[in-house]
Amino acid sequence: LRMILIGPPGAGKGTQAPNIVNKYNICHLATGDMLRSEVGKQTPLGVEAKKIMDAGGLVSDEIVVGMIKSQLESNEKCKLGFILDGFPRTVTQAEKLDGMLQSKKQSIDHAVELRIADQLLISRITGRLIHPASGRSYHKEFNPPKKPMTDDQTGEPLIQRSDDNVEALRKRLNTYHQQTTPVVEYYRKQDKHRPIDASQSPKLVWENLSAIFANK
Ligand code: AP5
Ligand code: ZN
Repeated sequence: LRMILIGPPGAGKGTQAPNIVNKYNICHLATGDMLRSEVGKQTPLGVEAKKIMDAGGLVSDEIVVGMIKSQLESNEKCKLGFILDGFPRTVTQAEKLDGMLQSKKQSIDHAVELRIADQLLISRITGRLIHPASGRSYHKEFNPPKKPMTDDQTGEPLIQRSDDNVEALRKRLNTYHQQTTPVVEYYRKQDKHRPIDASQSPKLVWENLSAIFANK
């Protein structure tokens, strides 16, 4: 299974991806998580990326394509299949991905779009808590951890993302509508676009998502 999860900030990409990983034992590549790991390590790339991420813009195509390429080439689990979360986010990234896969005689099976109205995303984003090492996300109200501010699996502290505030969210949504909506069109033309209503409960979203793999 080779698939893409497309959706605005807070749509539930990071929440649904582990369900797919558990079912198919494939790799989950989230460019946002990879970039946050660079930020945490304060590498030169991380320092540059943090400014762009906090401002709600996009890191350069070259950098994110390079990160995905190196994982697809070196990560054994990705050879069985993959879920791309937050990539591709521009048509250029989508074209580069197709080029990479074509050279291996592979292609994308499904480009799932998690559809949800912007106004529902404010509470999801402002209430989110994450476990930085794993990328696991919780929500203060909708999906609280067992112990306050503590990751269920490791017992480590949870944090709020520095771009999870109303102002940065507005910019991220603008960026999404301008740069990523054309990516949806790109996959529609290839007959790979699978829209899902992402405003429902996580459980219902998962039911609809798993039905895609069962049907096609
Ligand atoms: P990234 O980390 O990808 O952020 P994003 O796209 O803004 O998406 P989020 O992680 O905010 O949302 P999500 O859909 O994963 O939501 P989640 O499941 O956590 O990217 C960050 C930045 O990195 C970008 O802005 C950009 O600068 C840069 N970047 C990344 N990729 C790039 C690329 N390819 N090119 C260039 N730059 C790139 O859920 C959110 C909250 O809602 C959680 O609290 C969760 O518990 C809750 N929730 C989830 N589902 C439900 C539900 N059904 N009902 C109620 N609550 C729910
Ligand atoms: Zn995410």
